[in-house]
Parts: sequence; structure tokens; C-alpha cells
Amino acid sequence: MVLKAPGVLLVFLLACFALARRETRHEKFRRQHVDFPKTSIPDARRYCNLLMQQRNLTVGICKPSNTFIHAEPAQVDSVCTSGGTHHDENYYNSNVAFALTACRVVGGSQRPPCNYRPKLSTQRIRVACVNGMPVHYKGQA
Ligand SMILES: *[C@@H]1O[C@H](CO)[C@@H](O)[C@H](O)[C@H]1NC(C)=O
Repeated sequence: MVLKAPGVLLVFLLACFALARRETRHEKFRRQHVDFPKTSIPDARRYCNLLMQQRNLTVGICKPSNTFIHAEPAQVDSVCTSGGTHHDENYYNSNVAFALTACRVVGGSQRPPCNYRPKLSTQRIRVACVNGMPVHYKGQA
């Protein structure tokens, strides 16, 4: 059975590997930092509490702070190329300001449920780039 359909087996195995493989650093950056279009939750505090949870940033421990960028993923990526200016090492500053929601954990909550305080702003950002793609959100430029 298996020997008669090696192609099918191969495709199946490849599909399993694809599902099981770890996310790349760039995928992790997007999971942690890009929310576009911005998830519609009118209350900013609820937005932080929900998004931090949805993006798996409160698994076991509350990530102390995290910023969400509300711009097209491709536009955020471009900070590493045409949309950014080299700062130092592998850091680039965006040439334009982005709409941001910074979420910071409220005093003490280290274990879920995590409670976050939001701060909305529009600012230029600084990211670390590897192979022309953002992999780390450094902060505002
Ligand atoms: C969060 O983790 C769960 C369980 O591992 C997974 O199914 C889900 O896809 C993850 N969510 C994100 C946004 O990566």
C-alpha cells in the first residue's frame, strides 16, 4: 500500500513537517508586533488584554511589554529596505510614523490572567533586520 504510493506518502510527510516546523524569527516578529487591520476592540485596555493573549504572549508568564504596529505587513517589512534608514548594527529606523499600541503589564501581574495598560501613539519605529526582514522590535526611533 505505502510502497505503491510513495508520492502520496512523501506529500503527507512534507505536510506534517510543514505543520510541525518552528516559526521563523520573521514570523515570530509578525505574530508579536503586527496587527493589521487593527483588531476592532473599542476599549484599548481590553484590546491589549485580548491581543496579548491571542498572540500567545501570556503563556505561563505575562510578557512585560509589547508593541503592536497597525500597518500592512509588507510596509513594516520595508523598514529593512526602501522604507527605512540604517541606524547602527542591524537596526533600521522607519522613514514614516506608524500607528502603534504599546501594551505594558500593570504592576505585579506576572502570571495569567495578565492585565495590560495601553498607550496609543503614532511614531517612527526601530527594528532589527536579518536578511532584509524585521526580526526584532527595538522601540521608537
Ligand atoms: C497560539 O498557540 C496555540 C497553541 O499552541 C496555537 O494553536 C495558535 O496557533 C497560536 N497562536 C498564534 C497567533 O500563533
